[in-house]
Amino acid sequence: MLKIAPSILSADFANLEREIRRVDTADYLHVDVMDGLFVPNITIGIPVVQAIRPVTALPLDVHLMIDRPVRYVEQFCRAGADIVTVHVEADSEENTKKALSLIRAQGKCAGVVLKPGTPAEAALPFLELCSMVLVMTVEPGFGGQAFMEDMMPKLRTLRGWIDQRGLDCELEVDGGIGPDTCKTAAANGATVLVAGSAVYRAQDIPARIRELRG
Ligand code: DX5
Ligand code: ZN
Repeated sequence: MLKIAPSILSADFANLEREIRRVDTADYLHVDVMDGLFVPNITIGIPVVQAIRPVTALPLDVHLMIDRPVRYVEQFCRAGADIVTVHVEADSEENTKKALSLIRAQGKCAGVVLKPGTPAEAALPFLELCSMVLVMTVEPGFGGQAFMEDMMPKLRTLRGWIDQRGLDCELEVDGGIGPDTCKTAAANGATVLVAGSAVYRAQDIPARIRELRG
């Protein structure tokens, strides 16, 4: 069954504890960290990850949209992240490998993220170090954008490589996921779906999470 990771980027930040409890039937809690440099927006940092850790039993799936994430991955792990993903565009291959190793050394799951303009091949040097590969289906930075269906060939390519190599690696999709696009992403090999606005704008959140799981 598909896993659903609601993004708290679409939550009411003035009531974060309540908002996190509203999605407690999901599989992961997706936390979008932005630094105003890698993406043109600033959101959540280490103290917020630390503050939300005790209010949910869900694994925290921390998506780092920051320059040179190697500088901060250990701090996010110590703050309570369970999965930490870093963008391949955010640093050199060497430093990205170092970031993944530091995350794994903390006993956490490491992953790489690809922006829409980044080809599947950019994930190849890192696959064996990853518990997750995240394919962006919007330009990172903001919630509520339209799903980029033209990312599906990239998703299928990654699905093929993960299967051929027999890797224990989840394939996550982030951006524009809703009741229709969830089916497209699943049909093309995704195992984890991030959903911000589709979850938090729903009247009945548990029903929406079930609907997205398919
Ligand atoms: C965008 C973030 C996404 C965002 C998704 O940069 O990485 O996680 O919250 O929001 P929706 O589901 O509304 O597209
Ligand atoms: Zn995200």
